[in-house]
Amino acid sequence: MNVNNCSTIELRKIQDGRDGCISVAEGRKQIPFDINRVYYIYDLHDKVALRGKHAHKHNEQVIFCVNGRFTLTLDDGRRQEEIVLDSPEKGIYMGVGVWHTMKDFSDNCILLVFASDPYDEQDYIRNYEDFKDYVGREAGI
Ligand code: TYD
Repeated sequence: MNVNNCSTIELRKIQDGRDGCISVAEGRKQIPFDINRVYYIYDLHDKVALRGKHAHKHNEQVIFCVNGRFTLTLDDGRRQEEIVLDSPEKGIYMGVGVWHTMKDFSDNCILLVFASDPYDEQDYIRNYEDFKDYVGREAGI
């Protein structure tokens, strides 16, 4: 991927014939950290919904679209990338210092997120200028 600290994760899709499919994610296996929190986002009926708009200082995350589709925008302060997530097996790892937004949700869209840390508002950078300063400092610029 073009953006620092991000990568794609492909889960196996185990086909159970007429009984559907299963994909499995375990900490320190498919998910590259110990999972300390799981959350999901749903009821995204408003076409102008725009989520994320922040970066983390310590928390790492992997995001999946387990139903429907949406567009994920990643920004490491120097480069940006847009990815359409529309498959339950495809996840995106987002490390620290990645400004991310989620938009263009299909009506039936459900996002599933695995996080390395418990929720802590202090870990968020919610202002884009603060984010630019933060990544500049981390890079020693
Ligand atoms: P936020 O992380 O900004 O959501 P998103 O990145 O999907 O746009 O969180 C939205 C609200 O939910 C905010 O008030 C904090 C709260 N929240 C928790 O209480 N615990 C959590 O684990 C998360 C992810 C959010």
